[in-house]
Amino acid sequence: MSAVTTGTEPGAAGRAEPAPVTEQELLALESRYCSHGDTVHYTQPPKLFERCEDSFMYDGRDRAYLDLQMWYSAVNFGYGNRRLNSALTRQLDRLPQVASQFLHREKIELAARLARRIEASFGSEGRVHFNVGGSQAVEDALKLVRNASNGKSLMFAFEGGYHGRTLGASAITSSYRYRRRYGHFGDRAQFVPFPYCFRCPYGKKREDCGLYCVDQFARLFDSEYHAVWDAKAGQAEFAAFFIEAVQGTGGYVIPPPGYFEKLKGVLEARKILLVDDEIQMGFYRTGRFWALEHFNVKPDIIVFGKALTNGLNPLSGLWAREELINPSAFPPGSTHSTFNANPLGTAVGLETMRMLDHDDYAASTREKGARFLAGLRDLKRRHRVIGDVDGLGLALRIEVCAPDGFTPDKALVDRMVEIGLEGELECRGRRYGLVLDIGGYYKNVITLAPSLHISDAEIDLALDLLDQLFARALSSREVG
Ligand SMILES: Cc1ncc(COP(=O)(O)O)c(C=O)c1O
Repeated sequence: MSAVTTGTEPGAAGRAEPAPVTEQELLALESRYCSHGDTVHYTQPPKLFERCEDSFMYDGRDRAYLDLQMWYSAVNFGYGNRRLNSALTRQLDRLPQVASQFLHREKIELAARLARRIEASFGSEGRVHFNVGGSQAVEDALKLVRNASNGKSLMFAFEGGYHGRTLGASAITSSYRYRRRYGHFGDRAQFVPFPYCFRCPYGKKREDCGLYCVDQFARLFDSEYHAVWDAKAGQAEFAAFFIEAVQGTGGYVIPPPGYFEKLKGVLEARKILLVDDEIQMGFYRTGRFWALEHFNVKPDIIVFGKALTNGLNPLSGLWAREELINPSAFPPGSTHSTFNANPLGTAVGLETMRMLDHDDYAASTREKGARFLAGLRDLKRRHRVIGDVDGLGLALRIEVCAPDGFTPDKALVDRMVEIGLEGELECRGRRYGLVLDIGGYYKNVITLAPSLHISDAEIDLALDLLDQLFARALSSREVG
């Protein structure tokens, strides 16, 4: 076991006692003193990392683990990104703390850059509102929507959608498991099937379905007696549709062309707002600044978080159309958090925006994504248990199935995660581990979100290690 920390700390009786030094001791303390409610231990023992750099995490043995999920896409620009880290340390030296009733330049400049960027992408004017953490920004979006609709608390959301774990956010997230113990607090969602064409809920084929799924949604408004539409008042019972343009936790599912355009037509006709959750797919993950830019529709609200600060600070926020968020519609104090728009986070966010304006992330992400996806297609030809691969930019998916290519095989994916974290894969005489994230409705999808700075050599390494991982997981199962 590696030495983890050194030094002393005061004991219960004020005496100095040795600090925890081994990984084993740390795990024992974690097991005794940490709530397990805020984490999930996917492997036993849980994995402990010591440092990170570029695309790699390192454990106590200094074994390199190629990270293909980058903190659920929060670290789009690589671990230890010098430019962004320096923005943080510069701010630390100048103005690290300031109460949120006062102004600081980083907040204002960041809001202006985001709002102008969104105006350039979607042609709508609006404002930016900050908070801490994606779920909190989703909560703020719920407030905006309720405010704009005279307090309506019913929302549409997608099957397979994920919007966070606070009470409001989990009400519009498609897992009852996240709500079962806690009851309902107010907002409720009706969950609509996402266009998950590999497993089309209507048994259609993408080539000739005519977007039948949108017709099914539109049918809800056919008459008063379809239950959600008051034709006399011209009002829907539902205030907004919360979407992820590309589903994240749902398994990096990419909708077919035309889907969102047709859906938006229905929403506009029924005065239902479109809230675009870009918390996971924003900041060029899919090769565009916002994933929704691929689909030719305008959102009313955009929610963002994660990669805005490259994971250095839990800054999140939303943008909304001027009509929804101008100060007389959404007055001062409508939401508040001590740490919202904090100077450290906004300084890094501002530097992220400068970096994104300067470098051509659209082109580089498309190119890297095409290389990775070509490799995944090759991998699929070699492993019958890969039912589907797909990708948009560097949001890539491998759907793992039984040899029939369709029946989900979660157990095989779990085994792959374990073997990846053992750190004993090999390439050119060096040992590596792989850090993978799992998503999908059946938890059988490897959702790949590598660093947007990943090199071609690292993409080739990833493909090589994934190939080994499939072979090892399959053979360990045969042996078992
Ligand atoms: C699409 C989406 N929305 C919301 C959230 C919640 O964000 P947070 O975990 O920062 O609360 C996440 C987190 O993974 C997400 O992927």
